[in-house]
Amino acid sequence: MASLSAHVRSQAAALMTVAGYDDTTAVNDILADLLATGAACDATTPPWPSDISDDHSPVEFSVALDHGQRPTVRILGEAVADDPGCEANLAAAQRLLQRWSRRYNLDLSRYEKIADLFLSTPPVSPFALWFSLVFRHQHPPQIKVYLNPQCRDAHHSWHLVAEAMQRLGLGAAHRTLASAARRPGAGFSFVALDLHHGARSRIKIYLSHTPTATAEDAVAAAVAVPGIDLDEVAQFCRLAAGDSIGHGARPLVSGFTFVQSDTDQPSGYSLYVPIRCHVTDDAQARDRALTLAHRYGHDAGLIDRAIAGVARRDLADGVGLIPHVSLRLGAHPPGLTVYLSSEAYHATAPRPGFTTA
Ligand code: TRP
Repeated sequence: MASLSAHVRSQAAALMTVAGYDDTTAVNDILADLLATGAACDATTPPWPSDISDDHSPVEFSVALDHGQRPTVRILGEAVADDPGCEANLAAAQRLLQRWSRRYNLDLSRYEKIADLFLSTPPVSPFALWFSLVFRHQHPPQIKVYLNPQCRDAHHSWHLVAEAMQRLGLGAAHRTLASAARRPGAGFSFVALDLHHGARSRIKIYLSHTPTATAEDAVAAAVAVPGIDLDEVAQFCRLAAGDSIGHGARPLVSGFTFVQSDTDQPSGYSLYVPIRCHVTDDAQARDRALTLAHRYGHDAGLIDRAIAGVARRDLADGVGLIPHVSLRLGAHPPGLTVYLSSEAYHATAPRPGFTTA
């Protein structure tokens, strides 16, 4: 088997080509940093059980389509230390953040306001700090950090997110979110901060619904965001998850987006459907992703080429290459994102007997 870094780099290069970018310098530099952090580099089994993906690869790709813009290629990544562990991985991630902060002139001010809440030592959660690396045509890479509100336990997540939002000037918005989305068994799962300067730099708060949640729960959460097309939220759930919605192994996730001018309400809503829990194999997941691309007027051929660029097997031979699909609603026409697993270590077998509930 090729090394993890060779495998991931070839997939990233394929995605960049599909998205129409010929310069892969930035993505190669960033991946070299991310994957040079340790034992992960040449291992054939995961040295650390990263929760980024089902096979514990420490990266997950996605292609985001928005009307009127070129596609963006994104990589969700976890730094894995030479001698991996919660504390060592956090230290490796913090070193990377400092390096990237200097190289890409990042704005760490919001991160510094809230990081202590989530990075209490010693870290006990499966992850403390993840990165999203976003590549846009003719722009320097944008970097986002994910903090983990479940770093102590699920119960603390409400309190930690309340405090973080308070410190970020979003105390009133927290009350809006809590009243729309607080349900027994649901919990905040990520707090994400864009690290670029400027008014469009976002804060995103993610809520994992209960595993039995259905389109109605997503709609109830989306109510927190003014002007969202609630019927579309429900339609997207049904088209992506099919009849087995509410019976998946992974929950629906709602994302609430804040930009600088938002104080008491979010201005964007995203819904993440773990499509892999609702299909027999990736051929079926692909068909659904293409149907969604057509529905929202996006380039289905590009999605298809992106899937083919990352796949290293037949789509019908496994499930999970397409782990999630997400819809972005807000001021602009709906944006669609398709997530793609690296499967650097392992692919999950199809579920031929999978029947919808
Ligand atoms: N692998 C984890 C999960 O499926 C975390 C994760 C990675 C995730 N990418 C995501 C969660 C996109 C929601 C959306 O839950």
